[in-house]
Amino acid sequence: MENPILRRTAIRKYTDEAVSTEDVEQLVAAFQAAPCGMHEAAVMQACVVTKPKLAKRVEEAIGGAGYGAPVLFLISTKHGSPFGERDASAAAENVMIQAADLGLGSVYVMSGALRLNDSPALKQELGIDDGFDTVVLVAIGHPGEAGKNEDRSKRYKVVRN
Ligand SMILES: Cc1cc2nc3c(=O)[nH]c(=O)nc-3n(C[C@H](O)[C@H](O)[C@H](O)COP(=O)(O)O)c2cc1C
Repeated sequence: MENPILRRTAIRKYTDEAVSTEDVEQLVAAFQAAPCGMHEAAVMQACVVTKPKLAKRVEEAIGGAGYGAPVLFLISTKHGSPFGERDASAAAENVMIQAADLGLGSVYVMSGALRLNDSPALKQELGIDDGFDTVVLVAIGHPGEAGKNEDRSKRYKVVRN
């Protein structure tokens, strides 16, 4: 399947192979190209964790919610911003589609990402600014499983008028 939008499915198992620096930079570029409400780019930021020891500590803090992925793409938004979580979801999709285009697997993680907010010292060490809540984690790596092969062509109700 050529189209990375259609090819993307949630992947929750990854091989041990590291993601190349070039690929990480493409993921960052996809994040940077994401839309933001009212052009308020300052209400969203990302922290991309690729150092294995640090990734392990993040995984410990979030109860393994990142599935041991070699890249933990943490997206944080300014507390109280009306756009924050919407911006973060749009950006996460950009990152996941870019990952699919690179042949990488990914999954959008919400609940585990929120758990990082219970570890303010670690957040500070990661460089996440004060006043920012981590709202989405995109776990990314070389796929260690095939994604679900379900027919998604009718997943949602779509009304054509
Ligand atoms: C808002 C949102 C929250 C999600 N939270 C989690 C999560 O905490 N953990 C997880 O493994 N997957 C999570 N997912 C991934 C979904 O389970 C997955 O996208 C869904 O089952 C559809 O499968 P697909 O992505 O393969 O089409 C989340 C997805 C979205 C959009």
